[in-house]
Amino acid sequence: MQNLLEINNLKITTLRGKSTVRLLDKVDLSIRKKCSFGIVGESGCGKSITANAILGLLPYPLRVSEGSIRYDSKAGEMELLKLDRKQLREVRGQEISMIFQEPMTSLDPIFTVEMQMYEALSFHHPHMTKAEMREKSLDMLRQVNIPRPEQTLASYPHQLSGGQLQRIMIAIALINDPRLLLADEPTTALDVTIQAQILRLMNDLKERNDTSIIMITHDLGVIAETCEEVAVFYAGQIVEQANVVELFKQTAHPYTQGLLQAVTSLGGESRKLYTIPGIVPPGGQWAQGCRFSDRCSRCTEKCRQAMPALTEASPGHLCRCFLHSEEVEA
Ligand SMILES: Nc1ncnc2c1ncn2[C@@H]1O[C@H](COP(=O)(O)OP(=O)(O)OP(=O)(O)O)[C@@H](O)[C@H]1O
Ligand code: SF4
Ligand SMILES: [Mg+2]
Repeated sequence: MQNLLEINNLKITTLRGKSTVRLLDKVDLSIRKKCSFGIVGESGCGKSITANAILGLLPYPLRVSEGSIRYDSKAGEMELLKLDRKQLREVRGQEISMIFQEPMTSLDPIFTVEMQMYEALSFHHPHMTKAEMREKSLDMLRQVNIPRPEQTLASYPHQLSGGQLQRIMIAIALINDPRLLLADEPTTALDVTIQAQILRLMNDLKERNDTSIIMITHDLGVIAETCEEVAVFYAGQIVEQANVVELFKQTAHPYTQGLLQAVTSLGGESRKLYTIPGIVPPGGQWAQGCRFSDRCSRCTEKCRQAMPALTEASPGHLCRCFLHSEEVEA
């Protein structure tokens, strides 16, 4: 396998009453080794469910109804969707790790930082001594720029600030040298200065540990600062995908153009000059034809009737819009 992760034709559904509702449609993604890949889109477009599907974390009644997620593990190629709970636990942490938007999703309020770091370590390294675990934990805390790491190790989560908790979560996510890090809005809860600092830190760690990162965000500014490739999600589909420089230079899809206008600047004052009119339709209640048609200023009759296919606007640059190709989704 050439890539680290290959998602093919991924479809996710849920149940509403007795009917099946589609939440994600035919998503294809390839993540290269040592690459930082961004997934961007507004709330409800399917970013988190895609990440959760990779690690088998979809909550019932959500499920993968079709597709494959192949991963090139240290032990060889595997189909993540076919792993049982025990096998998935082994993959989590050491191969693939996740940082959640809310630190308290993965930190337990009743245990000290030390206990939580040791637990993450001992699961994959049962023979590590306590002294070795302490040394490794302190080293990770230093790497994520935690001041007074000894004192922090002995602290409970409520004794620490939001920025510190976020760094600790990153430290725990990276403690077993994962090869893929899924970062789901890792900085949205933080103020802009700490945001920029944490994003820099993740980039440093990526360079040092050769980790690939999937960065999930609603802000193209975060993508510009951290990623090489990007996929734009809208209403459970990919609508544009390209190299980041190309995407910013030759933005092809009207939705991405709207997101670009709404970018909040990083490392400076937050500014929100523009929001795309209208809202993302709820899962499954999508417009017939192009799913963005209700909100698009370039919409024509054809857009309302037929769904555009995801095609190449230029080599390696995919776009799903009739302004770029007449091709209709089969
Ligand atoms: N547990 C759930 N039960 C039912 N529907 C869900 C559940 N989780 C997500 N969904 C639906 O799946 C769709 C995609 O949700 P998802 O959480 O992936 O969005 P997102 O792009 O991550 O948004 P956000 O930026 O708000 O995190 C939405 O329509 C959402 O309502
Ligand atoms: S297909 Fe039509 S409605 Fe959809 S984004 Fe393109 S121009 Fe807008
Ligand atoms: Mg989400």
